[in-house]
Amino acid sequence: MPTPQILITAGPTHEPIDAVRFIGNRSSGRLGVALADEAARRGWSVTLLLGPVCIAPAEAGVRVAGFRTADDLDALLIEHVPTCDVLIMAAAVADYRPRRTVSPDGSSSHTGTGKIKRGDQSLILELEPTTDLLAKAAAARRPGQFFVGFALEPRDRLRVSALAKLERKNLDMVVANPLETMDAPSIEATVFARGGTSLHTNGAVEKSEFAGWLLDVVQSSLRR
Ligand code: CTP
Repeated sequence: MPTPQILITAGPTHEPIDAVRFIGNRSSGRLGVALADEAARRGWSVTLLLGPVCIAPAEAGVRVAGFRTADDLDALLIEHVPTCDVLIMAAAVADYRPRRTVSPDGSSSHTGTGKIKRGDQSLILELEPTTDLLAKAAAARRPGQFFVGFALEPRDRLRVSALAKLERKNLDMVVANPLETMDAPSIEATVFARGGTSLHTNGAVEKSEFAGWLLDVVQSSLRR
């Protein structure tokens, strides 16, 4: 098999409220970075789209492009998805962002581009949904591309939600993990694949160990 080109997204998005504040989440980027390092050690050609986090890949072979917002990541995916064989979408993309205001000249900006001043009244932020980037990428994929998504859910809804995401986003595989996984050093996951198969990690494992486990699963699916 020729060297697979793998595209991995990792970390949170920061959606601006004003020039200095944002809506974000606690994603550390650790899992995506571990996946990128492990794929590079296997000799894969790796591009990592990395959000605003404090870590970076250790392997020199990993090409990194940074994003801040869901829109930035959208633009990077438009550039990089067409040439990848495998997409692993581990980024914790915001589902909502502060609504943008459109000026009479047609330019758009987020709620207040300066710094919102303190006042005595409560402040209401209006949010608008972001694009589902993974569903958008999967809708345009070419034959042979293998797409993996994540589902972060409460334990009692893991299976049902992961299977729904597999269908709704038209994916090959969904990695389902409980909410406690975010910002944690370890992960306990179940992988659901098309055709009804599922695999479970042996309890909670370190994210670096999980990276090898998941790439083994992806690799054996590519060989089929
Ligand atoms: N995702 C995405 N674009 C978004 C939101 C999520 O591409 N705007 C991707 C994530 O990277 C992940 C998968 O979709 O691989 C599932 O993300 P999750 O937040 O669990 O689910 P949502 O699609 O946001 O659905 P819900 O909030 O209803 O669970």
